[in-house]
Amino acid sequence: MTFPWQSRKVTVTGGASFIGSTLVDALLARGATVRVVDDLSSGVMRNIQHVVDDGSVELIQGNLLDPDVSRRAVEGVDTVFHLAADHGGRGYVDLHQYACSTNLGLDAILFKNVVDAGVEQVVYASSGCIYPLYLQADIGETLYLTEDMEKAPGYDPDGLYGLAKVAAELTLRAMHNEFGVKTASARYFTVYGPRGVENHAVIAMIARSFLKQDPFMVWGNGEQIRNWTYVDDIVEGTIRCAEHIEDGTAVNLGTMERVRVLDAVNMVCEMAGYEPAIELQPDMPTGPMNRVADNSLAKSLLGWEPQVLFEEGLRRTFDWYTSTKDIDEVREIFDFMLTERGTPPSKVTASPTSEK
Ligand SMILES: NC(=O)c1ccc[n+]([C@@H]2O[C@H](COP(=O)([O-])OP(=O)(O)OC[C@H]3O[C@@H](n4cnc5c(N)ncnc54)[C@H](O)[C@@H]3O)[C@@H](O)[C@H]2O)c1
Repeated sequence: MTFPWQSRKVTVTGGASFIGSTLVDALLARGATVRVVDDLSSGVMRNIQHVVDDGSVELIQGNLLDPDVSRRAVEGVDTVFHLAADHGGRGYVDLHQYACSTNLGLDAILFKNVVDAGVEQVVYASSGCIYPLYLQADIGETLYLTEDMEKAPGYDPDGLYGLAKVAAELTLRAMHNEFGVKTASARYFTVYGPRGVENHAVIAMIARSFLKQDPFMVWGNGEQIRNWTYVDDIVEGTIRCAEHIEDGTAVNLGTMERVRVLDAVNMVCEMAGYEPAIELQPDMPTGPMNRVADNSLAKSLLGWEPQVLFEEGLRRTFDWYTSTKDIDEVREIFDFMLTERGTPPSKVTASPTSEK
């Protein structure tokens, strides 16, 4: 039976973000009625302007740490896709632990409102950052993280950002067990694609190549292994979580392609048509050395499989970035964006009405 999206009212928190706005487009295409709740602290209006302007999305611009905004966010909807979070790329989450800790409060307030309002279903944007760091140190190991490794033999999530994701997943399981709310957690692994921002590695690499950076800076020793996963695949998996999971189960959404940072850099430079010197920056944040998902559970539970191989997704993302960005603007924001989120202070002053 096909899922009745056409009769569903949904809220996407963080719906102006890179992944959130792509999810909004996919839900609208399925016929759902969509509300976006976002404070535009890192999400941007341009990602959703088209669907706000044509009236297909209701936008509540507000801070979900405000209990009243949170209450209004979930009022009268069937499904909440919860993506709002204080979050950025590796430079951001490593250097802004306090800010990431506020997600504990944001999630707790939202989930309480879900229970109080009797909302039927919540799908949560979790992360590969919930997995114990001690498992992910050895690049010589062909490791694929399976869902049961979350706490074996002990929790060791990736900072307060990862800890908040663990707490939310556990809360959602409790909400199912104790109140019958249908819940699911989708563990995203290093997502990239159009609308991505420079504080994430792939977009940062593309931005460096766009600026023809030479020497080309690489954080760490470049040997880190990742399974960068294309945004359309992530969105498809997230929607399938709503369609197939009710009991709080968490599933990995990630490819099983193992890509070394230095190999990704070489691919990007080849697309940009130049051969810069590579300068390693071992003191910059790198995250775990070896993080790749096992996606068999998503295959069996959701019938989900990534459709976009890294080389193809990288090409699409490179083409999007280089055809939509202004080189002077990228030069102006780039250093800020490597470790921050939202709008650089210079842009706020220069254009008070510009997107946050
Ligand atoms: N990008 C990735 O690789 C990745 C990997 C794993 C998990 N995730 C998760 O996916 C979700 C979306 O991430 P993203 O990369 O698209 O971009 P993002 O981090 O910009 O998304 C967060 C969104 O939430 C909004 N937001 C933040 N705090 C808010 C608040 N207090 N009130 C209202 N809105 C608020 C932001 O403006 C933004 O639109 C996040 O939950 C993130 O943790 C992303």
